[in-house]
Amino acid sequence: NWTAAAFVAETVNHIREKAGDRKVIMALSGGVDSTVAATLIHKAVGPNLYCVFVDNGLLRKNEFDQVLDSYRHMGLNIRGVDASALFYEKLRDVSSPEEKRKIIGGLFIDVFQAEAEKIKDIAFLGQGTIYPDVIESVSVNGPSATIKSHHNVGGLPEKMHLQLIEPLRFLFKDEVRRIGREIGVDEAILERHPFPGPGLAIRILGAVSPEKIALLQEADDIYIRSLKDSGNYHQVWQAGTILLPVQSVGVMGDERTYEYTAALRAVTSHDGMTADWAHLPYDFLAKVSNDIINRVKGINRVVYDISSKPPATIEWE
Ligand code: XMP
Repeated sequence: NWTAAAFVAETVNHIREKAGDRKVIMALSGGVDSTVAATLIHKAVGPNLYCVFVDNGLLRKNEFDQVLDSYRHMGLNIRGVDASALFYEKLRDVSSPEEKRKIIGGLFIDVFQAEAEKIKDIAFLGQGTIYPDVIESVSVNGPSATIKSHHNVGGLPEKMHLQLIEPLRFLFKDEVRRIGREIGVDEAILERHPFPGPGLAIRILGAVSPEKIALLQEADDIYIRSLKDSGNYHQVWQAGTILLPVQSVGVMGDERTYEYTAALRAVTSHDGMTADWAHLPYDFLAKVSNDIINRVKGINRVVYDISSKPPATIEWE
């Protein structure tokens, strides 16, 4: 008879016995899994948990500061590392999706390792691995299986020679949310949409530049805030904005424009393996389109993606 309270008590004890008074390091992402895992480990080892949150420059608008703030409020010992310049430099002129993923994954490990070396005598690596990650990293089927093993669980453990602490290894997402609720993790974090590790880099088709990231951040911020304000955010499983490499003609006042197109994506799903496009109300889409085109200079056209997975994927890259 599984209860969240019993799981928490047992897991915290178990981590405490395993770690003793040794140090644990952990990378946080602002997502549900890493946040709940860190909170459990923190309950067990307190200030011996060293958290690192890397700004790869590919996060959503204001996300780095907001997430860092909420971690500090939770009492976590967290270091924010702004590595965006490094990521932009290495991503310049790179347009292949897989190449982008490799560069981002590799740089992330470098930055995290450099932080780890600043702290003496670390013995453990904490990770927010959940059961589907474990299954997917051993399965060979499907593109998202290889994609996710690449970014979520791959790389770090092999490179760092640390023992792993993975308190969520046998849990599904809904159980992770229940545990999170039990230990008081902010509802806004628990109910957040999934966000890919490579971030906005795979939502900018083709080469990434700081200018394009800024454009996409503005448009996406309008979209996501509108979803929340209208009560639609929790009706969809994931939503995001994609910046297309297409420029088209428009008219603004009495000027002709030649600007980019933003595609809005929203899907319903259970696990991300299959998905249907969300049937958002036309009035809602009309308002978001107007707001983006009127407020974001550089975008003069908005389209809505009505493809399901399969055969399309949720992300465009
Ligand atoms: P696709 O696009 O394959 O996405 O239908 C399925 C889910 O996986 C996320 N996704 C990723 N997550 N690293 C991640 O951590 C990645 O490289 C990656 N690619 C896709 C996507 O956002 C969706 O939730």
